[in-house]
Amino acid sequence: MQDIIQQLQAEVDAFVISDAATREAFRLTFLSKKGSISVLFDDFKALPPDQKRSLGAPLNVLKKNAEEKWNSAEFSQAKSSASDIDLSRPSGFMPPGSIHPLNLVKHELIGVFQGLGFEVATGPEIETDWHNFTALNMPEDHPARDMQDTFFVQTDPAIVLRTHTSPVQIRTMLSQKPPIRIIAPGRVYRCDSDATHSPIFHQIEGLYIDKKVSFADLKQVLYYFVKEIFGDDVNIRFRPSFFPFTEPSAEMDIEWVKNGEKRWMEILGCGMVDPNVLLHCGIDPEEYTGFAFGLGVERICMLKYGISDIRLFLENDLRFLRQFATEKLV
Ligand code: PHE
Repeated sequence: MQDIIQQLQAEVDAFVISDAATREAFRLTFLSKKGSISVLFDDFKALPPDQKRSLGAPLNVLKKNAEEKWNSAEFSQAKSSASDIDLSRPSGFMPPGSIHPLNLVKHELIGVFQGLGFEVATGPEIETDWHNFTALNMPEDHPARDMQDTFFVQTDPAIVLRTHTSPVQIRTMLSQKPPIRIIAPGRVYRCDSDATHSPIFHQIEGLYIDKKVSFADLKQVLYYFVKEIFGDDVNIRFRPSFFPFTEPSAEMDIEWVKNGEKRWMEILGCGMVDPNVLLHCGIDPEEYTGFAFGLGVERICMLKYGISDIRLFLENDLRFLRQFATEKLV
């Protein structure tokens, strides 16, 4: 038995435990009920007392060594050693994904306006009160501020989540000289939520400032864009409206059919840039005029694809998103 103990000790020492699987193999080989060390203990019990005296100590040492080796090799199931990683193995199938419908429409709209010479401009989503309201002819306590249910990041001085993309008009006019022709796509925030209103939504702002820009130019640009997006047969209408930063102001609706019934859906606000706004930005209203518009990307996307609930855009339901999987970025 002395020989067997020595041989097993050599086997225990030589056994390489490198991961959870080899650690378990070690336990089964030596320490489990049918493992070789346990079997040796069974044999030991049957030995005459004088042999037991001389073999008991080395047998216990063998068992202790094996247990220590097993205990000190801690491998969790998730852990693997470098040798387990096969870098040449092909990865699992990754579906290619798809462009979000709002991005599809956004890129399509940008393409249409770029074709007319508009450049893309951007601005921050966390905006000062001055850029979001005051410079746009909405001084403090102006009732028009109430229409834009505002999320305040802080008060005094007031910092807001921009309620529209119109502050990009201000930032552009402060940093560029006319002629200016920009579109500003981006996220905007209002404290409002139902099937047609989401607290986060997307707008595209348009601004054109030059000498002799007229309301006729505004209408022509908007007609062109609607036909490009919805085709020649689309019906639109302009309604007189009010925005503090445009004068005169209008809203544009698109006709669509719901349950066989024709309806109008408002998709944008627009107008001639108010002289006060030009003055705030250091542009002489006697020399320059211009138009601005702000359109809702969700609304256009809903009309284009027949989507009835605005909340679908944010839910990340793959059954919804996969329907746009074949569309390409334009
Ligand atoms: N900013 C306005 C809104 O969000 C839309 C608008 C933009 C109106 C530009 C006129 C000119 O309601």
